[in-house]
Amino acid sequence: MKKKITIIEGDGIGPEIACEAKKVLNKISKLYGHQFEYEYKLAGGIAIDTVGECLPQETIDSCLSTDSTLLAAVGGYKWDNLAGDKRPEKALLGIRKIMGLYSNIRPSKLYKSLAASSPLRADITAKGIDFVIVRELTGGVYFGEHSTVTVDGELVATDIMIYSESEIERITKVAIAIANKRNNKITIVDKANILDTSRLWRVVCEKVLSTHPEITVDYMYVDNCSMQLLVRPFSFDVILTENMFGDILSDEASMITGTIGTIGSASLGEGSRGMYEPIHGSAPDIAGQNIANPIGMICSVSMMLRYSFGMNIEADNIDRAVEMVLERGYRTNDMMSNGAKHVSCSQMGELIVAALVKIV
Ligand code: IPM
Ligand code: MG
Repeated sequence: MKKKITIIEGDGIGPEIACEAKKVLNKISKLYGHQFEYEYKLAGGIAIDTVGECLPQETIDSCLSTDSTLLAAVGGYKWDNLAGDKRPEKALLGIRKIMGLYSNIRPSKLYKSLAASSPLRADITAKGIDFVIVRELTGGVYFGEHSTVTVDGELVATDIMIYSESEIERITKVAIAIANKRNNKITIVDKANILDTSRLWRVVCEKVLSTHPEITVDYMYVDNCSMQLLVRPFSFDVILTENMFGDILSDEASMITGTIGTIGSASLGEGSRGMYEPIHGSAPDIAGQNIANPIGMICSVSMMLRYSFGMNIEADNIDRAVEMVLERGYRTNDMMSNGAKHVSCSQMGELIVAALVKIV
């Protein structure tokens, strides 16, 4: 197969982890005879510094014309004081919106060998952690109107949380499709005791799910969910939630698996074209030191091959290579534990590349 991929290295540790991801892609193309072509484009802080805007048209055009986009991370201290709509993070929201990527799939899976890095008690991790957060990605408070105005001599800020029936319906269908491939269990997470948007979510979800008797559904308030993730993470299969709740819970969900550094994500819309990115940020504090964890980025590559290119065997191969390297005890800083073998970002990437062998 021949595929064109837009690569956005972005800021902070972005270029370092993107470099390891490309090594993995190159090895996969060599093993399986695929042709991957890369278009490197700017977004985020580096785009602001280079061309004066966080999401240049050239980058948008590339995202919309290639087969998929791989994004490392955007943002950093340097741009923290810019106005909200000028910040590097706006590039991410722009790409999501322009590409129509309304579903964000964030797996939370505990590698057995990483259990010692989890902050949870061993009796909890022993029961396993393996669930997926399906986060709505182009609606909610992220995309409602934002304003700051002066009222009676003081500043008043407003962020509007907005959802339509159709937005809720389409993401519910995505969650159902994912649950159907797993254990047919969906937990809908909201704040329906307070928010109208949450109450609408319940009505629409119930309607869509009424024709899916195979799915076991439960509804959970987001504050309760944040607790349950700590005490019984093993009980979740698919968590379906709105944009901001999904942002917050997916960070918590990743940390309980030992580190946020190993989790990739897929952002998808109607077609097969998607954007793939690790769920962690640009980590400016450790940028340029070759100590970042490239696994979240490499798992994003695996998700791209699986979801956008239908290359399941190749994706399985990457997942297995990652697991093998972790089982052999290699760890980057963020997941170090007693007795583990400490490696750099590039060493981790190379170990994973070396563990990729042709499996058909
Ligand atoms: C994420 C990030 C982004 C988000 C930020 C960087 C805008 O936290 O992808 O989880 O909030 O969606
Ligand atoms: Mg986040």
